Amino acid sequence: MFITLEGPEGSGKTSQIRELAAYVESLGYEVLTTREPGGTDIGDQIRQVLVRLENQGLHPRTEILLFLAARAQLVEQVIKPALSAGKVVLCDRYGDSTLAYQGYGHGLDLSMLRSMLAFATDQLKPDLTLLLDLDVETGLQRKRKEAEWNRLDAYEVAFHQRVRAGYLELCAQEPERWRVIDAGAPKEAVQLAMREAVARFINENSKKPLSAPQEKGN
Ligand code: TYD
Repeated sequence: MFITLEGPEGSGKTSQIRELAAYVESLGYEVLTTREPGGTDIGDQIRQVLVRLENQGLHPRTEILLFLAARAQLVEQVIKPALSAGKVVLCDRYGDSTLAYQGYGHGLDLSMLRSMLAFATDQLKPDLTLLLDLDVETGLQRKRKEAEWNRLDAYEVAFHQRVRAGYLELCAQEPERWRVIDAGAPKEAVQLAMREAVARFINENSKKPLSAPQEKGN
């Protein structure tokens, strides 16, 4: 089972995914958690280029090729082997980030991006995607407070608004894959909503229905 987390800046994906992983493990599944861009040695090197504040001159086409390069490596080196081993894979950002940021945000052609994505991922798509949806101003404020400001956050607010609207459009196009979570709610409520969405999905799609949380490894 391949589950991805998406969302605009400051939606809190990174801390929520850790708790979600622990929950899925408590249901008796082996979990692999990873993130984009990065997740492999080579991907982390690519990530450094992408997030450096000094790299303001990075052209959107260069940017997308770097994201896709990191993703191709992650798919082959980490995601496919984990899925083959029967693990649940939780990934912090994936192809939908490219559609939302490079497509809706920067206005690159969406159908071309979809072909490039198919190439980079060898057509591997998530089974379930959680959108941690959040008002843009609130998200950017949260990020500034955490002092994690990087080149990609420094784009203007209108860019981030297009990204958010893009995500909502992607949800509307493929509602069976997406679940929208209100990331403006308190942290605990966000985690609960994520767990419910994942548990329901597992129940509907797994041969092993869930009752109560089991010991890890059962
Ligand atoms: P990161 O610091 O990891 O942000 P976050 O914690 O919000 O995930 O930086 C990732 C940035 O890269 C984020 O601004 C989203 C952006 N991004 C793209 O523009 N396209 C992509 O395909 C991916 C994976 C990320």
